[in-house]
Amino acid sequence: MADELNSTIKDLEELKHQTLACENCHLRAGCRGVVFGEGSPLSPIMFIGEGPGQTEDELGRPFVGKAGQLLDRILEAADLPRNTIYITNIVKCRPSNNRTPTQEEMKFCLPWLREQYRILRPHFMVLLGLAATHGILAPDLKMNQVHGQWFERGKVRMMPTYHPAAILRNPNLKRPAWEDFQEISRAVKAFEQESETLEI
Ligand code: URA
Repeated sequence: MADELNSTIKDLEELKHQTLACENCHLRAGCRGVVFGEGSPLSPIMFIGEGPGQTEDELGRPFVGKAGQLLDRILEAADLPRNTIYITNIVKCRPSNNRTPTQEEMKFCLPWLREQYRILRPHFMVLLGLAATHGILAPDLKMNQVHGQWFERGKVRMMPTYHPAAILRNPNLKRPAWEDFQEISRAVKAFEQESETLEI
């Protein structure tokens, strides 16, 4: 177990190092640094946002601005504290003026997310907002129609839900988002319990 953890950490560090030299698209030229992602390497769940904003670009960490602070509060309330999850973005470099990344930019960046998935093998993915939902599931989905639903993709269960920045802009989204997070927490706890039982 310790060996497996060490090798996961090492693989992630190597991958992070490679992303720093990425020239797949023009975004890298317009930002301070690459925001790779962070969190528990053992977590069964990966959260995927849109892309770094200004604060994230400055600090090199995902979800540390206003939207990130709201996400932290929702995660705490759902009994999924931030240090128990892994969190990253569909694009690792900040698009200028916080615009939404284009489908093409997401496509160029996707190989890095695939590698993160290959190393971490999460059982669940939460797609925070439309960009991640469009880039990973399908480009024509509407959030009010798909949020809160699990999509089975290979061995992963994926759920789109509202981006915390959207909740900040529209408080009416608080309730549906909270219901989604309760379902996410329920599914993760059930999965963890099942895994513990199998270990006996
Ligand atoms: N919004 C995102 O989608 N990702 C971040 O890292 C911060 C804000």
